[in-house]
Amino acid sequence: MTTKNVIIDCDTGVDDAIALLIGLQSKALNVLGITCVGGNVPLDNVVRNTLVVVEHSRAHVPVFRGCAQPLLVPLQTAKYAHGSDGLGDIGFPDPQLTEQTEHAVDFIVRTGMDFPEPVDLITLAPLTNIALALVREPRLQEKIRSLTMMAGGIGFGNSTAFAEFNVWVDPEAADIVFRSHIPKTMIALDPINQYSKIDASVIERIERGSAPWCKMAGALLRHGLERWKGPVSPPDAAAMAVAIEPSTATSKEYPVMVETRGQYTRGMTVVDRRRWRGESTAAQPNVHVVETIDTSRYHQFVLDTLLGAH
Ligand code: BDR
Ligand code: CA
Repeated sequence: MTTKNVIIDCDTGVDDAIALLIGLQSKALNVLGITCVGGNVPLDNVVRNTLVVVEHSRAHVPVFRGCAQPLLVPLQTAKYAHGSDGLGDIGFPDPQLTEQTEHAVDFIVRTGMDFPEPVDLITLAPLTNIALALVREPRLQEKIRSLTMMAGGIGFGNSTAFAEFNVWVDPEAADIVFRSHIPKTMIALDPINQYSKIDASVIERIERGSAPWCKMAGALLRHGLERWKGPVSPPDAAAMAVAIEPSTATSKEYPVMVETRGQYTRGMTVVDRRRWRGESTAAQPNVHVVETIDTSRYHQFVLDTLLGAH
């Protein structure tokens, strides 16, 4: 199996945690580092939660502290969804592991420019760290092989009617990243909500695993099941699965623009799906937009990865 060298950018968060637990068990990934950004919870919580996850994963992966705030506006968190600690207030003990001293943006630039093999990015969070890295070192666009993001909505949002949280928190950063030349794949809310639901039967199988990463993933998923009173579709976990196994999804390339000004639509990803776009006015397709995810393959992938068959 060929392994991808990846950097994972996150705002850990319940669903980031599940995604990281999967990513850190996958034999298809060589995780060079995990970079943290303020998002679901303030940056201190994000760094702590990420270290908790790495510890439960028994992984030797460095964790880097990045930007605490979006580029232009104050941070808006999602504690209402992730709990006041960002991990559902379940009570995971503080980690023994410690973060690196290098700033996340420096790590992304240094690794992207100097690593001897291609580097892929997986982002599960507001795009502040990635945008700053691109501003700092524009040649990164030519060096990063791919960027797979949990970002945006096609027909609707969650933070507002049209804006998804990761884009809505820092639309200016998202705009910089979406305009970059890095080959991009976007896993938006629409296919996630439709195809990546995880129900009690899958959760029970994960809970039966004895490894600490199964116990942690099981506890987070069980918490979601009870909190939302039904099956859960953790967005970042679906994005991680597609990043690792692109064949579980279908996608099509469209022009995607980030709305930074709209009175009701700031933070919206405008996906131009017109059949005839008109040559003079339309932007060029710039993002592979995931349209479907194979639900049973997704479930099998999550189970095999966490329970050790991959
Ligand atoms: C995204 O926003 C965050 O709340 C989640 O962690 C996920 O990355 C979903 O909109
Ligand atoms: Ca996230």
